[in-house]
Amino acid sequence: MSGAQVRLTGGGQSLVLDVANGVPSLIWWGEDIGEADARVAAALAPRAVPHGMLDGGEALDLSPTAARGFTGFPALEIRRGDGTFLADPRLVTVEATPHDARLTLEDVRAGLRLVLTLALDPATGVAAFASRLENTGATVLGVDWLAAIALPLDHDEALLFDGRWAAEMTPVRARIATGAWIKDNRTGRTSHHAPPFAVVGQPGFDEDHGEVMGLHLAWSGSSRVILERLRDGRLQVQAGELFLPGEMNLEPGEAYETPTLYAARDAAGLNGLSARLHPFVRQTILGGRLAARPRPVTFNTWEAVYFRHDLETLKDLAAQAAALGVERFVLDDGWFVGRDDDTTSLGDWRADPLKYPQGLTPLIDHVRSLGMAFGLWVEPEMANRRSALLEAHPDWVLGDEGRAQPLGRGQYVLDLSRPEVAEAIFAQLDALLSAHPIAYLKWDMNRDLTHPASRGRPAVHAQTRAVYALIDRLRAAHPAVEIESCASGGGRADYEILRRSERIWTSDNNDPTVRQKLHRTFSIFFPPEVMGAHVAAATNPITGARSGMTLRAATALFGHMGVEADVRTFSEAERATLARMIALHKSHRARLHGGRLVRLSHPEPGLAALMAVDPEGALVSAVQLDLPRTASPAPLRLAGLDEAASWRVRLLNPSPRPEASMKRAPALADGAESLVPGRVLAQAGLPLPVLTVGGVALFALERVG
Ligand code: DGJ
Repeated sequence: MSGAQVRLTGGGQSLVLDVANGVPSLIWWGEDIGEADARVAAALAPRAVPHGMLDGGEALDLSPTAARGFTGFPALEIRRGDGTFLADPRLVTVEATPHDARLTLEDVRAGLRLVLTLALDPATGVAAFASRLENTGATVLGVDWLAAIALPLDHDEALLFDGRWAAEMTPVRARIATGAWIKDNRTGRTSHHAPPFAVVGQPGFDEDHGEVMGLHLAWSGSSRVILERLRDGRLQVQAGELFLPGEMNLEPGEAYETPTLYAARDAAGLNGLSARLHPFVRQTILGGRLAARPRPVTFNTWEAVYFRHDLETLKDLAAQAAALGVERFVLDDGWFVGRDDDTTSLGDWRADPLKYPQGLTPLIDHVRSLGMAFGLWVEPEMANRRSALLEAHPDWVLGDEGRAQPLGRGQYVLDLSRPEVAEAIFAQLDALLSAHPIAYLKWDMNRDLTHPASRGRPAVHAQTRAVYALIDRLRAAHPAVEIESCASGGGRADYEILRRSERIWTSDNNDPTVRQKLHRTFSIFFPPEVMGAHVAAATNPITGARSGMTLRAATALFGHMGVEADVRTFSEAERATLARMIALHKSHRARLHGGRLVRLSHPEPGLAALMAVDPEGALVSAVQLDLPRTASPAPLRLAGLDEAASWRVRLLNPSPRPEASMKRAPALADGAESLVPGRVLAQAGLPLPVLTVGGVALFALERVG
């Protein structure tokens, strides 16, 4: 801190706050700026106040409120029984280091203290913002809204994420035209359709161009993102937890803390953002815990057998999966007592005695004897109406007692904010993990929270915190067990759940053409090693589309690779291709999961290309998703490669019959090695063969000097 400024630095950037007037505001976030320049920027920051506005103008600070004359969406909305609703917290203390700051503001009259925390990650420049509101008054303080922070925006083109089950992270672009654009998620989970993430940037920003700011609220419950164009033209963004009416009431002395809003800025488009966010997630969100743990290639039984569990079939699948190179076998839904379809048994976490007369041990022993780790599917937050658990404890449901609520997949949500309920579920999971060498839990969550009342009070917040606490307790008791976060596919994919899991089930949709697009948006925020990606059957059970093995496997191998199909039905040729692709994944795994993922651009909109690159080499895939508009493919420029180096390049899957699609094949199409300077690859690009729809070209690059 210097004088009336706080200057945080990290990742080659500075974030500068003006704290001169008792209210902190952001005056600079971008390229590293010295103290003197920051002072000039602060001096130039105040805008003209036009006629027709309040005399002092409207300050867009880090927590704007109506009490300061702000007429946009306030960052803080409170209420008390005596009618108090205005709040004007003013700075009382500023504590700062070069990388973080804690700003304490108080409004004695309203009886509250607001603490804003800001941090800039020294390595990546990713910022973390959160607010804490304390009731210093003598009566109950109702909190209707508290943003983690309010930030001014420089640009008005927004990329938001829509979606549905089996089509998560669907990109939607729009200009913030006028007024407030409020994206609410009321599902009680991160959601398929409104995850609290956004990118806002220079109009036309793309993978490699344009100033962009990426925002990610780390929260797995209901949430709200606000993008607003104020009446004077300025733009703001806020994000925070969405409360039900009257949900957040603070007794005197109590405090509420928002989820953390992570944000990053970069001048080089979405790839620039990911180049900051991926290392940040690896180091800070995951705490570096995956670095020395290669992600095991996974087999999942769901689309192979669904609920039809038969020990001999499962053993056979395990043996065949191991022969393909699989390293972890995950027994999905259908293994527990009475679970023959999705109408029953959630809550009763004991092996089905009919399917597993000797319990899970024979299958687990078999899987482990094949050299694979064993994983198990659970859905701990839920119970079916038809379950021993709810028969014994019908009142354990999260709901408004006496009021019927709709079922979702035949199930109710358990009220985990009640200690006895959380305890009972913990005891069952703990017993399972203590009795068996289970290395992995696929933790599913398959319905929205529609009646989230606990003992008559709204409780999405309490439930979300209780889920975190249950997972944390289980992880503390079984620290070697990994967790996959799943919610009907990718309905719970966020940085806060990722703090307590090692993988995210990206989507139930394993169709590679859908996945190629989904991986592009998912990977803006998440590094590939947490992106579960499976090779499914040739005819996809969800989309009905057919695809070849090379496409399916080349798509899965850019994430945390797995297989989810009845591999017994695969032809010899499919099996051989899959085994080769798993081996390829393993040989590039350190690069795929520790290097840089670049979403390559190509003039042909139907061509999706990715590159995983590290200082020693790269793996590149180009996939033709639709019929190309042009007959001859443009070369693929490899942005992000070290241009000063030379690279030995080879097409890994040359066509056995190039004449079928080309009169003349381009260079490299025969699979021969070629030495190519990096700047040629970056500017002239890799020559691509003509690809049919669904066709794939996979290139390996090795640095030579
Ligand atoms: C939903 C998940 O997304 C699927 O992968 C599978 O585990 C099913 N639940 C099982 O019921």
